[in-house]
Amino acid sequence: SLERTLSIIKPDAVAKNVIGEIYTRFEKAGLKIVAARMAQLSREEAEGFYAVHRERPFFGALVEFMISGPVMIQVLEGENAIARNRELMGATNPKDAAPGTIRADFADSIDANAVHGSDGADTAKNEIAYFFGA
Ligand code: CMP
Repeated sequence: SLERTLSIIKPDAVAKNVIGEIYTRFEKAGLKIVAARMAQLSREEAEGFYAVHRERPFFGALVEFMISGPVMIQVLEGENAIARNRELMGATNPKDAAPGTIRADFADSIDANAVHGSDGADTAKNEIAYFFGA
């Protein structure tokens, strides 16, 4: 079905100057960028976005990383956009990411892993609302 998902190009990939290359992958896969903005996240915004991970041991490092530089935030729309974006991204840990995926090609570590994508329909709805409102 036609879905929307939230995507973030993280500070490592913005610093590597590969926003355009990642956008091209979205577009070639049939995902349309229907909203986008660049942002320097505040600590409060990053903590709120990743609130489900608050108790995890990596939470502090994740928040520090996400506020270390600008991010590019976008809403992707297309058939099965949530799963399709996750296929394009590859596994969370770039060491496990399949060849040709965004994380295999651009990510350095599980924290600096180039991109975020919503993991399900409910998450997508909440994450889109978090950054773009209704
Ligand atoms: P992301 O999809 O943005 O969601 C949470 C992020 O936490 C994840 O990508 C990783 O960058 C980061 N992270 C760090 N360590 C872990 C871990 N052990 N498991 C899952 N995510 C982790």
